Amino acid sequence: MSTDRDHEKYLAAKEAVKYVSNNQVVGLGTGSTAFFAIQEIGRLVSEGLSVRCVPTSNRTKELAESLHIPLVDINEVESIDVTIDGADEFTTQLRLIKGGGGALLREKIVASLTRRQIIIVDSTKKVDVLGRFPLPVEVVPFASQYVLRQLKQKNGVGKIRMADTQPYLTDQGNQIIDTDFGQIADPVKLSIALKSIEGVVGHGLFINLAHKVIMGVAASGSTITYE
Ligand code: 5RP
Repeated sequence: MSTDRDHEKYLAAKEAVKYVSNNQVVGLGTGSTAFFAIQEIGRLVSEGLSVRCVPTSNRTKELAESLHIPLVDINEVESIDVTIDGADEFTTQLRLIKGGGGALLREKIVASLTRRQIIIVDSTKKVDVLGRFPLPVEVVPFASQYVLRQLKQKNGVGKIRMADTQPYLTDQGNQIIDTDFGQIADPVKLSIALKSIEGVVGHGLFINLAHKVIMGVAASGSTITYE
């Protein structure tokens, strides 16, 4: 393992994959922590585990395909048994900020269909109050400047995420506005307010979606589960 953080991601991922069993539909998250879980699922599949997986991004789809993990189209399933995904921040009330990797929209759709959403994190992701990590807000490009102004009215300082010199585009062809709201005292209220802005297709506040957060702890070589 290269760093303590990577080790914590690995520990959390290993623990989460214990909740995956034969014949399940499994959601595959996106990001450097989900990567370890997908690797582990790939290893189990090579040993005979039978699952059908729903990836939350094109990147994750490619990774799963490279590991010969069977995939299923989300529109062919009514629900997902278990999803393992990362987060940019979490509180012990299981509220999250996600979307640092740009996959927030599909991640939230997958989470909404999921019976058991397991979030895996390293210990740097734990906060008392959400808001240290700028909140990703996904917008249709046509509305980006309008949404920036609307966010400002709600005390959000937004910046369009860039990829080199061009705006970063999500798998849906949308842009992301990374928005600093300071400490988010009432995430439910903010979530409702953001969804009411025309042109916003999603945001990274995940409330009432996670069933467990598993955090790796390098010092003890173990994990802590919040539920
Ligand atoms: C991607 C996400 C990721 O889960 C989040 O950014 C955490 O990533 P990492 O595990 O690399 O720290 O929400 O959209």
